[in-house]
Amino acid sequence: MTNRSSQGQSATVRVQRFNPDVDTKPYFDEFTIPLEPGTTILDALREIKSNQDGSLTYRRSCRHAICGSCAMNINGKNMLACNQPLKDHLDRKGRITIRPLPYQPIIKDLVVDRSAFWEQYQRIKPWLIPPEDIPEKEFRMSPEEVEALKNAEKCIMCGACYASCQVIGLNRRYIGPHALLKAFQKILDPRDSIPGERLAEVAGDDGVFRCHTIFNCIDACPKELNPTQAIETLRKLAQKRQAFEAMRRERQKSLIVSTPRISEPMGD
Ligand code: FES
Repeated sequence: MTNRSSQGQSATVRVQRFNPDVDTKPYFDEFTIPLEPGTTILDALREIKSNQDGSLTYRRSCRHAICGSCAMNINGKNMLACNQPLKDHLDRKGRITIRPLPYQPIIKDLVVDRSAFWEQYQRIKPWLIPPEDIPEKEFRMSPEEVEALKNAEKCIMCGACYASCQVIGLNRRYIGPHALLKAFQKILDPRDSIPGERLAEVAGDDGVFRCHTIFNCIDACPKELNPTQAIETLRKLAQKRQAFEAMRRERQKSLIVSTPRISEPMGD
């Protein structure tokens, strides 16, 4: 249900505010905005910032669920603001409540400090490390190998999963579902040459065995990915790390044999 005014339908947007320069604790502001067909939650925030309170602070960039910057907490659930119709999240009184993502320090209003999130991401070396011998042409993966990645490459690093993980709430050293999903992607990629080193890292004190399998990360993911399943796979692979490394070496040899190597540069 939505509010009706003489101008048409409207919605009440409750936004958590906090400016560390002047506020001692967060509080809520309420704004009434016109509700047009197709209005998204991000549109509502833009309407408030443009026409009612220019000091409202939030992150956004692409507006198409690609950049991951507009993740926030809507009525208690983490999601992207740019791909959610506002009307789908209004209660019976036509209200919606918007907070910043949990478990991270607030910089201002809906903007949180994501330093710990990115530090954990860097920790898993989120880049491929190829073997010394590489084929002349592309490093071809089989359809089964692509399938095994479970679309992990679609992760947009929005942080919705990280900020819904109760283990993160207890232990900031935990690598987190976002980085473990990316580690899974690199470890399962046959072009990568250090799966053993990666498995040793994710099986350490702050890694996959810390996950309590609560499934919040799955519920929060706007791309319908499954970090919990990735973590479960990493747990199993970590227990047979040496055999997995040996299999990877054999797989890479077969790639080199089936595709010509880059030839040495010709001397004069
Ligand atoms: S603004 Fe880029 S994902 Fe929402």
